[in-house]
Amino acid sequence: MKKWNAHVTKVLYTQQQIQIRVQEIGAQISRDYDGKNPLMVCVLKGACMFYADLLRSCTIPLEMDFMKVSSYGTATKTSGTVHFTMPLSQNITGRHVILVEDILDTGTTLHAVLPRLRVQQPASLAICALLEKPARRQYPVSLQYSGFSIPDVFVVGYGLDYAGQYRNLPYIGVYTP
Ligand code: PRP
Repeated sequence: MKKWNAHVTKVLYTQQQIQIRVQEIGAQISRDYDGKNPLMVCVLKGACMFYADLLRSCTIPLEMDFMKVSSYGTATKTSGTVHFTMPLSQNITGRHVILVEDILDTGTTLHAVLPRLRVQQPASLAICALLEKPARRQYPVSLQYSGFSIPDVFVVGYGLDYAGQYRNLPYIGVYTP
């Protein structure tokens, strides 16, 4: 490995494994939301890579929107405080909404985000996360679409960061300080 990613000690999912799973999820969403014109919401920043690939694997009409939420800062543990730094650009009342996340970890982020969306009374609200880490769940959040269930390791790459770094790795790897 090159020096800049020397702390990434193991590849958990290769680029190819990710793409296969993303295609499967896209096909499933396309079947489930045929004729519903879903509004697919990217939870920035971590979900950006997954979101871009997932939407291109969907074969139905859909719309895009973005929100920016953050709780980790520069740490490997959640601060517990969720900062909403960019809201959605539209009202979601009556829309079929699919929230796209990179990872469901403690559930702190989605526990804070979901009530803010539900109050607008969307027609439906589903969550799609590429990764989930069941061992660390603190809030009961359930996923309608889940890519991979992973052990309690700190992962980076494919949008996921440590202190802002490693998001541009094309694979998902384990970060070891
Ligand atoms: C990450 C990730 C999820 C959240 C999951 O976001 O993108 O939104 O943590 O962890 P949780 O279930 O314990 O809340 P982060 O706060 O690191 O911001 P980022 O997406 O900008 O990296």
